[in-house]
Amino acid sequence: MTESDPRTADLPAAVTDDQTGTVRSEAVTTPQLIVSPVTEAAADIGVIGLAVMGENLILNMASRGLTVAAFNRTISKVDDFVAGRAQGLSILGADDLPTFVSLLKSPRKVMLMVKAGPAVDAFIDMLSPLLDSGDIIIDGGNTHFPDTVRREKALAEQDILFVGAGVSGGEEGALTGPSIMPGGNPDAWPALKPIFQDIAAQVGGQPCCDWVGEGGAGHFVKMVHNGIEYADMQMIAEAYSLLSGVLGLSAPEIGAIFEDWNKGELDSYLTQITAEILKKTCGDTGQPMVDVILDTAGQKGTGKWTSVTALDVGAPANTIAEAVFARILSSLKDQRVEASKVLRGPDDAGEKPDRDAFVEQVRQALYASKICSYAQGFQMMELAAAEYGWKLDFGSIAQMWRGGCIIRAAFLDKIKAAFDGNAALPNLLLDGYFTGAIGTSQMAWRQVVAAAALRGVWTPAFSSALAYYDGYRSERLSANILQAQRDYFGAHTYERVDKPRGEFFHTNWTGRGGSTSSSTYNA
Ligand code: ATR
Repeated sequence: MTESDPRTADLPAAVTDDQTGTVRSEAVTTPQLIVSPVTEAAADIGVIGLAVMGENLILNMASRGLTVAAFNRTISKVDDFVAGRAQGLSILGADDLPTFVSLLKSPRKVMLMVKAGPAVDAFIDMLSPLLDSGDIIIDGGNTHFPDTVRREKALAEQDILFVGAGVSGGEEGALTGPSIMPGGNPDAWPALKPIFQDIAAQVGGQPCCDWVGEGGAGHFVKMVHNGIEYADMQMIAEAYSLLSGVLGLSAPEIGAIFEDWNKGELDSYLTQITAEILKKTCGDTGQPMVDVILDTAGQKGTGKWTSVTALDVGAPANTIAEAVFARILSSLKDQRVEASKVLRGPDDAGEKPDRDAFVEQVRQALYASKICSYAQGFQMMELAAAEYGWKLDFGSIAQMWRGGCIIRAAFLDKIKAAFDGNAALPNLLLDGYFTGAIGTSQMAWRQVVAAAALRGVWTPAFSSALAYYDGYRSERLSANILQAQRDYFGAHTYERVDKPRGEFFHTNWTGRGGSTSSSTYNA
């Protein structure tokens, strides 16, 4: 920036970068006038945050005929964007927040596409004095839903309508049509609906975006989406591992199998990209790319949030949690290398199964496991809705995930149909289609899990999904033993099979304890 830069001239000298939300980058050496000459409020919406998602979302909005105001903490990115990808489009760059706000039509709609956490609070603090009653702030980042609950409440007191919108689809989705899951202050929805439903992915003539619910519901549903994504990815990795470990197939051979699977029940974005990934060769070594990639997986925390929240609301989302633990275990690479020299697996792996038969069994096991992880995700949303007072429409959520997002899959049509047919369905597994699908595939699934156990192939998600299925379908579980143990050592009481629910009994198991039972019974 130079003194003659028209954008710096209006900034009070004493104002710090933190107060303006502006970072002056050394990289800008040839300043250009980037602020539009438009003086009246012309923009339909404003977006703050010119990282990958923000930029692509703005371009998507502009491509639908919207006029978009753009701002970023580091002003040089506004320069670059306006002079680059945004050139010639209905995108107005702003070099400070007051200018940005002045460009917006009323009610003003400001979408934050900044890093989740303190950056969102910082921009809310800077924006709210510049906004009027009825204006709208949307957080489109990967925010943890309790933060959205807090921000929505605080801004409602200032008559500013806050929306937390989960946006999924990565770079390409943001540009061509993401899945958008908005929730928060419902008064904001009429103004946002035409914009969001227009820029979202469309499947079957329907947008992959609808109002989710109040408070943190939108970010909650996006979080569960990410948890399911963890499980989907882990299960695909396990299928690869079985085909490679048991049948000894090469990566390109397995890629061809995934390509084939993508034509049927497993048709999904993740199946498709896995087929492409497995066929890719490393330019340096000539080996399959996957064979040169280190086997440790990173994570950004949304799977962990889903798992912790599942525990908080009492949802048995064990496959989703298992997928998070799987990444954690993978990250202990050095320990695993050492352990592999000491800890033995089975000596006799048995005969190699018939190739085609085993491939088909793995396909069925993957589908059955996938059904269970979605069942867990939807069951978790149902329990959370009761806990947090949200009215979630699960058919509509399935439609939102049908396109645009990472877990988009053809079988979400079946999930939508299940919940459209019975909005109060307590578990996806109880819908006729899914009961039938899992019934058909269960023997193949069991054989695959058994083969993996016998051969020592690591399949935590397949196994935990099967455990969920067997637990959920059991009329009588072994929890009678747990409850007896709890009553034995802690006088926690139990209910009886031959008495009405809600009556609690205590046994003096040893003859030494008294007759006093614990006052809290936690079923
Ligand atoms: P991605 O992962 O796609 O790169 P991100 O890290 O989630 O994106 O978000 C990056 C955006 O958040 C950028 O617009 C960034 O602004 P800068 O370009 O100035 O870095 C913005 N951002 C990150 N931390 C911020 C903060 N503390 N205050 C304001 N904006 C911030």
